[in-house]
Amino acid sequence: MLIKVSQASACHESEITPQAAYLSRRTLMAGAAALAAGASLPAWADSSSASAYEGVEPGKPAAWFQEKLKQTHWQAITAKGEAITPFKDATHYNNFYEFGTDKGDPAQNAGSLKTEPWSIVVDGEVGKPGKYALEDFVKPSQLEERIYRLRCVEAWSMVIPWLGFPLASILKQVEPTSKARYVRFETLQDPATMPGQRSSFSYIQWPYEEGLRLDEAMHPLTLLAVGMYGRELPNQNGAPLRLIVPWKYGFKGIKSIVRMSLVTEQPRTTWQGIAPDEYGFYANVNPQVDHPRWTQARERRLPSGLFAPNVRETQMFNGYAEDVASLYAGLDLRVNY
Ligand code: MTE
Repeated sequence: MLIKVSQASACHESEITPQAAYLSRRTLMAGAAALAAGASLPAWADSSSASAYEGVEPGKPAAWFQEKLKQTHWQAITAKGEAITPFKDATHYNNFYEFGTDKGDPAQNAGSLKTEPWSIVVDGEVGKPGKYALEDFVKPSQLEERIYRLRCVEAWSMVIPWLGFPLASILKQVEPTSKARYVRFETLQDPATMPGQRSSFSYIQWPYEEGLRLDEAMHPLTLLAVGMYGRELPNQNGAPLRLIVPWKYGFKGIKSIVRMSLVTEQPRTTWQGIAPDEYGFYANVNPQVDHPRWTQARERRLPSGLFAPNVRETQMFNGYAEDVASLYAGLDLRVNY
């Protein structure tokens, strides 16, 4: 397996900087640029300002997260100068059907999710199956910030600074066997705290499930996120642990993961199970293959509005083709959408 991130995505500035220094440096850099451009600061750049995390009060992050944050590799990968989406939009325009189907529902309802203590079951084709406490699970891995484009199949997009661990480094710990070909992921099922799972109108068969081919899971761009915008993950964004696969549509980014199974057969996934003609297993961002209801050629970069629609061309593999196209050599992407 080739573990390599192209020059296009990797950040050359590979120092490890404490968060406070990073944030204030960010503020200075953003401030200088903003002064030059006459623009305002990105809302999340200055963590000391009350408006930086507008709408989501920082909770008390788990002790292990605070420790990891001190040694974060900031900006390990960047989105080549594209503006970061304001924190308010990233945390108030969400898809998390366990908490409702409207974009504002997760921010309103996800407070009921209890994220500590949290454990993850790892089973199937692994040398070290078990139920791991989250802090033990991530202990050997270094926290990295990765600024990725997020492209939803509904044709909107954002740019988000995630904090997380390469999934590959986590999977190696549990020693996948030679029979493992796919990874299946599962979200928490807890109707008591997840109103969407109690709804009799829901057409989703809970728990939410996703899957990746093992080589996709081991790809260096694939991340298990535990934070964003320099702090812990808000509940509505999938606390305390979610998947990020930046070259795939957002629905592959399963939230609040409680189980990872290494399996031999391609697993069932939630959206493919509901409408296989609309959502495929691969779900690679592809401007040439439209969804029946949404053209995939273009996207609305949030924030956007009637008078500033902020529409841009969608890039093949969401702009990560140089890093990932080789994974799909010889595969018909119109058939395997
Ligand atoms: N994970 C779970 N468990 N439930 C969901 O409804 N929605 C998916 C994905 N992960 C979803 C989920 C979809 S459709 C998208 S676009 C992204 O989460 C949205 O992530 P965000 O709300 O952090 O932007």
